Amino acid sequence: MKLFDPERNPPKFAKVPEHIAVVMDGNGRWANSRGLTRTEGHRAGEAALLDVVAGAIEAGVKNLTAYAFSTENWKRSPEEVRFLMGYNKEVLRRRRDLLMEWNVRIRWVGSAKRLWPSVVAELQEAERLTAKNTGLVLNMAVNYGGRQEILHAASALVERAREGKLKGAVTEKAFSRELYQPQMPDVDLFLRSSGEIRTSNFMLWEASYAEYVFLDDLWPDFTRETLWRAIEEYSKRQRRFGNADDRPIN
Ligand code: FPP
Repeated sequence: MKLFDPERNPPKFAKVPEHIAVVMDGNGRWANSRGLTRTEGHRAGEAALLDVVAGAIEAGVKNLTAYAFSTENWKRSPEEVRFLMGYNKEVLRRRRDLLMEWNVRIRWVGSAKRLWPSVVAELQEAERLTAKNTGLVLNMAVNYGGRQEILHAASALVERAREGKLKGAVTEKAFSRELYQPQMPDVDLFLRSSGEIRTSNFMLWEASYAEYVFLDDLWPDFTRETLWRAIEEYSKRQRRFGNADDRPIN
């Protein structure tokens, strides 16, 4: 996998999102439609993720958050859960040299509750090894749920109040400080593959004012060019953040 490929150049974007969150959906359907098993779809999804990381770096994106395992994914068959746990570990270990070379900093967003301790250890090791990298921040959402993250922050604030350490009002800023990765900027572009139009409990707090782009491509078919198409779509959007323009058109 090449980071810069002279035959694959990104277009000139009018505007580049600082933070992209991506729901990597459609691995199962991609595999089943080829007579393969779901786990083979996840394997194909790994290459797509790497290509999208390269494309994000080339486009100048600073943060990419990838939904690798949701708090709802525990409902899947024990075999698929076991595979996804093992595969997360394997991918982190197998790809970390390449990600080091690309100057990528890995961070984990998610809860340790129920998550395999060996997966937590691998995520923490990847965070530690890449902590000094100054390029793209790749947030791996593993055992992540948006509601759970909000509850986590609320509970931390309650705890601080109990200890008498909460000074002043509960502001958005004070609340954000208790999220899984407090320094993470708000999501600008929320991207989902596979034609499904829903958020699935991803980045509920951080994506309040994100632009949403839903593409029909199944995740294993995703490439850096697909990401660039989504960024072009994003750059055409007019973001107002609740503000309004008054320009009568006659
Ligand atoms: C959703 O597709 C995908 C997942 C739940 C797992 C995401 C995993 C990868 C992209 C694999 C590579 C990356 C890492 C970090 C291990 P789905 O299974 O819901 O597909 P479906 O909707 O077609 O059934």
